[in-house]
Amino acid sequence: MYRVEETKLLAERVYQIWVNAPHVARHARAGQFLIIRIDETGERIPLTISAVNGDTVRIIFMAVGKTTQQLATLNAGDAILDVAGPLGRPSEIQRYGTCVVIGGGVGIASTPIIAREAKEAGNYVIGIIGARNADLLILEDEMRTICDELFITTDDGSKGTHGFVSDVLKAELERRPVDCTWIIGPAIMMKVTSNVTRPYGVKTFVSLNPIMVDGTGMCGSCRVQVGGETKFACVDGPEFDAHQVDFDLLMQRQRIYTGEERESLEHYHRHDCRCGGDSHE
Ligand SMILES: Cc1cc2nc3c(=O)[nH]c(=O)nc-3n(C[C@H](O)[C@H](O)[C@H](O)COP(=O)(O)OP(=O)(O)OC[C@H]3O[C@@H](n4cnc5c(N)ncnc54)[C@H](O)[C@@H]3O)c2cc1C
Ligand code: FES
Repeated sequence: MYRVEETKLLAERVYQIWVNAPHVARHARAGQFLIIRIDETGERIPLTISAVNGDTVRIIFMAVGKTTQQLATLNAGDAILDVAGPLGRPSEIQRYGTCVVIGGGVGIASTPIIAREAKEAGNYVIGIIGARNADLLILEDEMRTICDELFITTDDGSKGTHGFVSDVLKAELERRPVDCTWIIGPAIMMKVTSNVTRPYGVKTFVSLNPIMVDGTGMCGSCRVQVGGETKFACVDGPEFDAHQVDFDLLMQRQRIYTGEERESLEHYHRHDCRCGGDSHE
């Protein structure tokens, strides 16, 4: 059992949990993830390792379906049955020169650990974080402390630049040389934003988020196409060269269990959840 040390609501439906998991904390590197199972009847879900502090690791998640909504009900002192990790390959961090670390929505969760390691490797680090509106923006203070420069965007203009992270990235690419970029967020955002770096020939990494089950390369559910080859995101990734990724296939495969996911959430609200049957949707 893994003890929940601290929980916090960061934005609407976005939660932060610090969980005591010494074996994960000891080995975790930027870009890696863990797979949790809350209890015996629970599903296994992958979540990025967002930060490490001593024996504890931080996860940040959006309560979108059955398991993440159940996770959101946990409080300090509660326990999580399984925490497996660190899984996946760490980010390819080297001394590139100038790096841009970009997060969109809950994808911002992955950015501080990458930005910190990139900075420690001797890079000049520019952060760009974006959300639909100011209330949904997370980890701004933390990213401001780590990055040499930080840009904010909101879709509705309620904070920072009115527009998308891709707009600010384009402006920066026009202004100065950039050597490497990480882009983490919804698949469509990663697709659009990585198309911005393509004509500039900038090395670009994205962190793919296909459905994962075992996280060890055995089940095949996380298959993605990269450079025309089939890769398993859990063991070959989750980070890949963005310009080689077939994003349309990724998005198509992400939707294949939509019916089952809806059923599972309805069942949870009818029978198990502590919310009295109300939908959180
Ligand atoms: C490597 C990796 C890292 C991730 N890191 C984060 C993170 O830091 N924060 C965060 O909020 N989300 C993260 N996700 C997505 C997260 O795993 C899903 O939101 C979660 O599994 C949803 O489960 P659910 O039961 O609440 O929702 P469901 O209703 O079951 O699903 C909602 C949506 O979540 C996705 N999803 C469902 N099951 C899985 C699964 N087993 N594996 C992957 N995606 C799934 C699907 O796109 C689905 O449409 C990550 C995914 C991957 C692959
Ligand atoms: S999650 Fe099963 S092979 Fe990757």
